[in-house]
Amino acid sequence: MRARLLTAPFLPLLLPLLSVVSSSTVPLAAAAAAAADPPSSKEIPGFVNNGTVGSLVCNLSKLIKPHRVGGVVAVGGVGGDGQKHFFNYQSTIAGLDCPESKPPTYPFNEIHLASKDDSIRATFVPYGALISQLWVKDRYGNWRDLVLGFDNTTNYATDGIHPNFGPIVGRYANRIRNGTFTYQGRTYHTPLNENGLDTLHGGLVGYDRSNFTVKSLDSDSVTFEIRDPDGNQGFPGNVVANVKYSLGSGSVWEIEMEAESDSFTPLMLSSHVYWNLEAYNETSTILDHVLEMKYADKYVETDSILIPTGKLPEVQGTPFDFRKAKSFRSLFDRTEGVCGYGCKGWDSCFVMSHPPGLTQQDEDDDDRQPSSRDLQNRMTSKPVLEMHSPKSGIKLSVQTDQPAIQIYTCDGISSPKGKGSLPRKRSHGGDGSLSKIYENHSCVVIEMEDYIDGINHQQEWNRDQFYGPGRPYSWRSVYTFSNVDEQGRDLGV
Ligand SMILES: *[C@@H]1O[C@H](CO)[C@@H](O)[C@H](O)[C@H]1NC(C)=O
Ligand SMILES: *[C@@H]1O[C@H](CO)[C@@H](O)[C@H](O)[C@H]1NC(C)=O
Ligand SMILES: *[C@@H]1O[C@H](CO)[C@@H](O)[C@H](O)[C@H]1NC(C)=O
Ligand SMILES: *[C@@H]1O[C@H](CO)[C@@H](O)[C@H](O)[C@H]1NC(C)=O
Ligand SMILES: *[C@@H]1O[C@H](CO)[C@@H](O)[C@H](O)[C@H]1NC(C)=O
Ligand SMILES: *[C@@H]1O[C@H](CO)[C@@H](O)[C@H](O)[C@H]1NC(C)=O
Ligand SMILES: *[C@@H]1O[C@H](CO)[C@@H](O)[C@H](O)[C@H]1NC(C)=O
Repeated sequence: MRARLLTAPFLPLLLPLLSVVSSSTVPLAAAAAAAADPPSSKEIPGFVNNGTVGSLVCNLSKLIKPHRVGGVVAVGGVGGDGQKHFFNYQSTIAGLDCPESKPPTYPFNEIHLASKDDSIRATFVPYGALISQLWVKDRYGNWRDLVLGFDNTTNYATDGIHPNFGPIVGRYANRIRNGTFTYQGRTYHTPLNENGLDTLHGGLVGYDRSNFTVKSLDSDSVTFEIRDPDGNQGFPGNVVANVKYSLGSGSVWEIEMEAESDSFTPLMLSSHVYWNLEAYNETSTILDHVLEMKYADKYVETDSILIPTGKLPEVQGTPFDFRKAKSFRSLFDRTEGVCGYGCKGWDSCFVMSHPPGLTQQDEDDDDRQPSSRDLQNRMTSKPVLEMHSPKSGIKLSVQTDQPAIQIYTCDGISSPKGKGSLPRKRSHGGDGSLSKIYENHSCVVIEMEDYIDGINHQQEWNRDQFYGPGRPYSWRSVYTFSNVDEQGRDLGV
């Protein structure tokens, strides 16, 4: 147990030790040489951060014996101000009450985590609170990196196409019709950052383009925080939002988000990961990935620029019917126009009227819906989305507390004559040039969230996506990876 190890005399030793760890940063060039290898567990004492994140520069003149504070073992001492300060040494980040601790500053650092059983490894970046690598094993026992991204982490901010590779999207995910919404008689306008017609993913500088800070960190989890001020992008209310990523034994990735605002404001956060369950090994199409969304009985009808019309048709008999497992390809030819004018594929919101284990009955009360924090730990009892590649044998299963699922099949991710194309990561066969790119329909974005543009359809859809004092926002999803045979039958872990 770690608690026994750390007694006061160890603390001065711990500080130089941490800086040694930090200086063993894996340079990108080294990562490149080891093409299809995840960051090795030997390099993962928690993270590698170039001396910024994780530097414990807590200048305590007198140390105090470790003891329990609110259930966690704390160490601390008397600071320069003569006051006692404590921090939770289980995290390598000093607590807020350690005034000399060096705040994490560089937003493009890579934070490498692994689950305790080393069945899953992932890399996170504070910019956008994004995930840049996620490694699990395929049917043959080889590691694969299942998420799209850039090898050079500063590219997440500089790349002109800005596909939203792997970040949290917010304050309000997806589109807001005409960048306009009304709350209690007052109308608000948000930037028309999509073709001058609507707001996409929270405006010009959404959460995906924001520097999150690291609030806490461990070898298998990290919590990022963003402070989004009142009036930013036209939204009312100061929002403080947290996202916690955890890697669990048995190849589990869990995301938990919480947000609070001091005035009522639209909140809809989501994780915006581009998946390819083959890691561009056997093929570079996801059309043969098999998708099943048992409870997705309706979809949000959208117009030619993907703005909801207000109708929620049944999926029965449409190219939106994935209630039984089927390949994207089996319905693909029927999707002309589904993802916008002249576009084939999906960019669609699937609605679950009755997610298993999640009742909607509270929402019919006259009072406000229960605070979503009250519903914490209330998650679907079964996966609501399952997707696998018959070729790699990797299956993804998602449980969530959200009632809808947005699916985007990378319909226009490469337009050589338009915005251009994106280079593949080295773990996807790329070499840093455009000789290997992320092709159209070679990936799929899955966003667990509420009904898109629900702020403009509150009555007809019975949604309340405004959060504020007394009504905090929360979001939770669990992504579990397993192996299946060519027919999609479970092979166990
Ligand atoms: C890492 O730290 C060194 C020394 O402090 C600095 O020169 C370098 O620019 C840093 N690199 C990154 C990516 O922050
Ligand atoms: C630590 O604090 C003491 C006063 O308590 C001060 O004299 C010393 O310079 C500080 N050291 C650093 C590295 O800031
Ligand atoms: C593709 O996957 C197979 C099965 O895991 C593996 O043997 C092969 O080395 C992979 N190819 C590349 C280029 O990574
Ligand atoms: C990473 O990308 C930035 C632009 O975002 C560029 O200036 C820098 O040279 C790149 N670094 C490497 C090692 O390619
Ligand atoms: C559309 O948005 C513009 C400003 O962005 C606003 O002036 C106009 O009133 C809005 N139209 C509707 C129908 O809401
Ligand atoms: C994020 O941090 C980078 C590097 O420190 C800085 O250049 C940039 O302005 C920051 N972005 C925002 C939106 O604050
Ligand atoms: C990908 O799709 C976009 C949008 O439909 C289209 O403009 C582009 O030409 C396609 N790319 C290729 C290489 O066909």
